[in-house]
Amino acid sequence: MATQAEPTLTGEDATAITDPGVYADWNGLLDRFDAVRSENPVVRVVNEEVHDPFWLITGYDDVMRISKDNKTFLNSPRSTTMAGRDMLDFVKKITGGSPNLVNSLVTLDAPTHPKYRRLTQDWFMPKNLKQMEDEIRTLAKKTVDRLVDAGGEADFVPLVSAPYPLHVVMQILGVPEEDEQRMLFLTQQMFGGSDADLSGTGMEMTPEQVLQLVVGAVNDFEAYFAKLTEEKRANPTDDVASVIANAKVDGEYLSDRDMAGYYIILAAAGHDTTSASTAGAMHALAEDPEQFARLKADRDLLPGIVEEAIRWTTPVQHFMRTAAEDTEVGGQKIAKDDWLMISYVAANHDPAVFDGPRTFDASRSPNRHIAFGAGAHQCLGLHMARLEMKILFNELLDRIETLELAGEPKRATSVFVGGLKTLPIRYTLSK
Ligand code: HEM
Repeated sequence: MATQAEPTLTGEDATAITDPGVYADWNGLLDRFDAVRSENPVVRVVNEEVHDPFWLITGYDDVMRISKDNKTFLNSPRSTTMAGRDMLDFVKKITGGSPNLVNSLVTLDAPTHPKYRRLTQDWFMPKNLKQMEDEIRTLAKKTVDRLVDAGGEADFVPLVSAPYPLHVVMQILGVPEEDEQRMLFLTQQMFGGSDADLSGTGMEMTPEQVLQLVVGAVNDFEAYFAKLTEEKRANPTDDVASVIANAKVDGEYLSDRDMAGYYIILAAAGHDTTSASTAGAMHALAEDPEQFARLKADRDLLPGIVEEAIRWTTPVQHFMRTAAEDTEVGGQKIAKDDWLMISYVAANHDPAVFDGPRTFDASRSPNRHIAFGAGAHQCLGLHMARLEMKILFNELLDRIETLELAGEPKRATSVFVGGLKTLPIRYTLSK
């Protein structure tokens, strides 16, 4: 690490922060963040050839403060997720100047953001979700049936943790079951674009190829949801797609692009993330048969397991913010327009806040993790994610007697949303 007036990461230390391959090696990544945090919790990452410089924020308190101060730290006008300069130029060319392929809640700020968020907020509140519990339970049962049918050995990710949250979010959106596979494929292309397995191409790709794939996925999404909007305007039903299709902001229907962005954020944010935390919880239980047995005997432990799995996995690994004015974070001067990466992974493994942060400790209390973010953009689906996981694990615990790993779990290579892409397990069924 270079020592300069302004703490700066350069060379390999800098490239690692945006290298998807580095994020596939979880312990290596955490080692890296620990080293950076202990030396310079607010540090500039400079890799001129690849991206504009940004501040990497790794301390819990700083990540929390930035997340909550939505006046000083804006989601717009720069990309809200890490994007290289080539990619940004390409995206701007396609969009006519916007750094984001789609407009969505995460790319907006006040006063527009709250207007859009309000449109669907009630849908994601516990009161409404309560009415959906039976439907979610039915989906959970069907999903666990597949595991039961598989006998005693399976890869948990493709069989359970990937499809289940997708079914749930698609049900809420009002997407018919026969189209879910396509949605899964598209989100994997958008979020797992650089991962050879997840992108479905089976080969490593250049950033330009990744972007082409992502653009293709976005276009497919837009076309799909444009049709759905037509249907839901003609025949509104009791689902979020109908709310969005018929919603008006300042007296106007949402534009096609804004509507597509809304669907995309819900469809995409609603399943890859919960899939990762679900696989993470199963991973932790498979590695600790005693904890699994305790949980089987005492379901009151389940909320703690779910919360700790969400912290331990931190599926959304970062977001970006842009400073609206000159300010200061952790003693460092931040200039207006500076770009910042808030690392939820690093914050959730900050030893100043979490004892033994790498240990999966279901009895952690309090567990003030920031995996769902904080402030105006705090995850809209956090109640849903928790509920889905609780319902699924109750079902799994009813039907599985013993559980162990049957091979090495593997993580996706992704800088933004990350988690396990394979989790081989061996299990016996309850009588
Ligand atoms: C374990 C699962 C999940 C995790 C870890 C997660 C994490 C996050 C994070 C970190 C943010 C950004 C927060 C910020 O900027 O402060 C976010 C935003 C969001 N999440 Fe989630 N999420 C999860 C599940 C879901 C689900 C199930 C949905 C529902 C469909 C959802 C919908 C959204 C939406 C719409 C936003 C944008 C909110 C806004 O900008 O106003 N998420 N999520």
